[in-house]
Amino acid sequence: MKPNIFVTRPLPGDHLERLARIADVNVHEGGDPSPAELERGIAEADGAITMLVNPMGRGMLSKGKKLKIVANYAVGYDNIDVAAATELGIWVANTPDVLTEATADMAWALLLAVSRRIAEGDRLVREGKFDGWKPDLLLGRQVYGKTLGIVGMGRIGQAAARRAAGFGMRVLYSGRRPLDPVLANELRAEYAELERLLRESDYVSLHAPFSEANRHLIGAEQLRMMKPDAILINTARGALVDERALADALKRRTIAGAGLDVFEREPLVEPLLLQCDNAVLAPHTGSATRETRGEMAGLCVDAVIAALQGEIPRTALNPQAGASGREAGRKG
Ligand code: GLV
Ligand code: GLV
Repeated sequence: MKPNIFVTRPLPGDHLERLARIADVNVHEGGDPSPAELERGIAEADGAITMLVNPMGRGMLSKGKKLKIVANYAVGYDNIDVAAATELGIWVANTPDVLTEATADMAWALLLAVSRRIAEGDRLVREGKFDGWKPDLLLGRQVYGKTLGIVGMGRIGQAAARRAAGFGMRVLYSGRRPLDPVLANELRAEYAELERLLRESDYVSLHAPFSEANRHLIGAEQLRMMKPDAILINTARGALVDERALADALKRRTIAGAGLDVFEREPLVEPLLLQCDNAVLAPHTGSATRETRGEMAGLCVDAVIAALQGEIPRTALNPQAGASGREAGRKG
């Protein structure tokens, strides 16, 4: 019998065809699966390709009696209990590298859109309110020569920093540890504690993965440390920011603007944010280029094929999972 692969959404490109040659591929159609549908799919699956909106906690993972791998169609994997998966002998894979440049572009798209008030201008033109050139129409903020603060200097943070060179910017970064000095030098980036970064940056861009430890990493207190003309960009995960506190800061103009691609309770958006003209809001499309979304599918399919062949997937986050769990009590 062919192995069964559950895919929780149709994917762009034709990579699933490679999988269909060796497996029965069960693609869930018609939106996100409900918890019951997810459970049914997982219960029968030898492998799964999941989206970042599918909660894959211990309970759900343990329904997969035959499950060898969960390949998450995202670089972030805070929707998956990786420790539980490891105990259960299930590999978890993600899609690193292929979305680094697309996501860094998105951070920059938002940075430029907020500082130059692109969305406000678009609304003004469409509303028929463009009544001629004016010296003071929609004055924004200069980007060139300012200070960019990068919170989380992983692959995406580094790619965002690289782009700053073309804008003659000074780059500060915070994160778990300073970069290798050669790399920091190449990126012309200076390590700073978060508080100094917030106090000195004109633009603060978040690129840290989400975990409970950094929920509301940027809350009311941190927003107060930011300059009144600073702009916050978030293309990482919504819950890094206290959205209520951010809406409040934007409303009272204690910071100048925000560009958000991610939200705390997607697809819900804090209603107060919707009222803020100085925020540019995007529907979690950071990695949404044709090229990247195709390559993400390719990585997920590669990972599933490797796992079905008993090989450690190249993108496994828990390579050790294959050796553990499998015999140790997942049956029953
Ligand atoms: C998207 O948010 C991802 O983690 O890939
Ligand atoms: C994700 O790819 C990161 O390391 O930023």
